[in-house]
Amino acid sequence: MREEPPELAGPTPNGARIFDHFLGGTDHLVVDCEFADEIDRVVSGMGRLCHDLRRFSRTVVRHLAESGVDQFLELGSGLPTVDPVHAVAARHVTAPRVVYVDRDAEAVALASRIAAGVPGVAVEHADLTDVDAVLATPGVRELVDLRRPVAVLAVGVLSALDDETARATLRRYRDAVAPGSALAVTHPTGRGRPELVAWRAIPHTGWSYAPALRDPEDMAAWLEGTELVGPGWTSAPEWALDDPAADPEVTGSGLWGVLARVRRVRG
Ligand SMILES: C[S@@+](CC[C@H](N)C(=O)[O-])C[C@H]1O[C@@H](n2cnc3c(N)ncnc32)[C@H](O)[C@@H]1O
Repeated sequence: MREEPPELAGPTPNGARIFDHFLGGTDHLVVDCEFADEIDRVVSGMGRLCHDLRRFSRTVVRHLAESGVDQFLELGSGLPTVDPVHAVAARHVTAPRVVYVDRDAEAVALASRIAAGVPGVAVEHADLTDVDAVLATPGVRELVDLRRPVAVLAVGVLSALDDETARATLRRYRDAVAPGSALAVTHPTGRGRPELVAWRAIPHTGWSYAPALRDPEDMAAWLEGTELVGPGWTSAPEWALDDPAADPEVTGSGLWGVLARVRRVRG
């Protein structure tokens, strides 16, 4: 566990650091562990959910890097710890460029410290729904060539958005990137994980929120103008290019994942 430098020794738990705790990382504080224990009492298996998200991210980043994609834009990135995008990509493609974007200033400050000095990596403070602001950040402008394919990752982050905002936001990213670019998305479903339904019912304050639960038919419009890759919508941790789709209700993950490639179709 990280020592608590004065500027990070705040009294409140932080969502990105709690995520790191659940992943078994070292970039969290005692207060985050205590809060994680509280979460576990309400939503048992939160650690498994975090690991499932990371497993999906690892697999799709590997697939994309192996297919030659060397630019990645992670939206709602949290902390770049425990198999972060830049480390996974670097195993499979030369000199990847990765921009991490998060709206949580505390997470961005810590993520910047973690990624400091890593070539080709930038951490930016922005709201993913402000697509113009994200694309205008120094990291994106300096590291990402939007005329070449880029992978846009929205892993573990869209369930806080209302339907229209999520749809419009993904379409803006789709329209901003070159053909052959990719959108990788996860989303929780109420099917297969009853405690995710229970999560919605608890009182939420501060950084916590009642997640929307959706199924592919609810999200089809988000990915118009793209082609689904491999299994299409599938249980996120089971995503594999050559495997058939798995139902998250059957696997018990309660988590959909999809990878889509951008076509040059508008509207
Ligand atoms: C589950 S965590 C990290 C997930 C991360 N993508 C991963 O796969 O490890 C979600 C993160 O999204 C951030 N976030 C939530 N809503 C956001 C938004 N509208 N814009 C940018 N970041 C957001 C939170 O601050 C948090 O750090």
